[in-house]
Amino acid sequence: MLTEQKAVEVRKRVKRWRDIHQRVALVPTMGSLHAGHIALVKRAREVAERVVVSIFVNPMQFGPEEDFGAYPRTPDADRLQLAVAGVDMVFMPDADEMYPAGVDGVTRVEVPGISDVLDGASRPGHFTGVATVVTKLFNMVQPDVALFGEKDYQQLQVIRRLTADLCLPVEIAPLATVRELDGLALSSRNQYLSKVERAQAPLLYRTLKETAYAIRDGQRDYVALEKRAVGKLAAGGFQPDYVEIRQAETLVAPTAEETRLVVLGAARLGKARLIDNVPLDTRAPEDRTVSLSHPETVG
Ligand code: PAF
Repeated sequence: MLTEQKAVEVRKRVKRWRDIHQRVALVPTMGSLHAGHIALVKRAREVAERVVVSIFVNPMQFGPEEDFGAYPRTPDADRLQLAVAGVDMVFMPDADEMYPAGVDGVTRVEVPGISDVLDGASRPGHFTGVATVVTKLFNMVQPDVALFGEKDYQQLQVIRRLTADLCLPVEIAPLATVRELDGLALSSRNQYLSKVERAQAPLLYRTLKETAYAIRDGQRDYVALEKRAVGKLAAGGFQPDYVEIRQAETLVAPTAEETRLVVLGAARLGKARLIDNVPLDTRAPEDRTVSLSHPETVG
């Protein structure tokens, strides 16, 4: 496995691969890798001949009160996992490579509307930071396809939009959320949970799933469903940020006729802020019933 820190070296190598008609996949990450990232790498190997993984903890997407400094950084363990998973190249730029002029005052990529709701409302500037670094990574690596987990559902929709709006020649490939056996979505931030909180944590997914089932059963009073879900999380020891039922692509509030929906939730549990979601299509029950009742799990 190659390790590169400079974009110019990454580009040279990727150009050589593409010149011999090898398809190149990029898996952007912030490191602290877990089985969810490795599932993305596995999928990447299925859709491309060459796989590049980037590791960069992006300061632009953290708010001043957030955990940028404390965010777990495990580069040696990450490289080992990626080598075992058959990655061709890991790109580990430092902050000077990514932001030579610093973060303040540099060109940013704004995806209006969708960046300002839900997590964007709770974390002002977060999705501009994500959109900016992902655009830079696409330009630095120049992949044919890039893979993102559905766990960060809003992020995925922001990236789809920016790729379409800016005509970037990169295919966006989503992957279903990978979960623990009890349903908790894998996340680097799960390590912030105490033992007691870890036992409480699966309630987030359970509550979102129950809300999705209620919609599937024909309930259409979304405000009442959201309120009930928030109450359940609060009763279970969470400090809920939101539970919202939204249109699946635009993330605007749906009309009662809308069939492509997603139930999204965010809640604090101790030091961790957990997010999760359950997409559903009310016209195609069998489609999402599979992922509702049998999420991809790891042991
Ligand atoms: O999902 C993440 O890990 C990050 O938001 C991403 C896409 C790598 C951008 O920094």
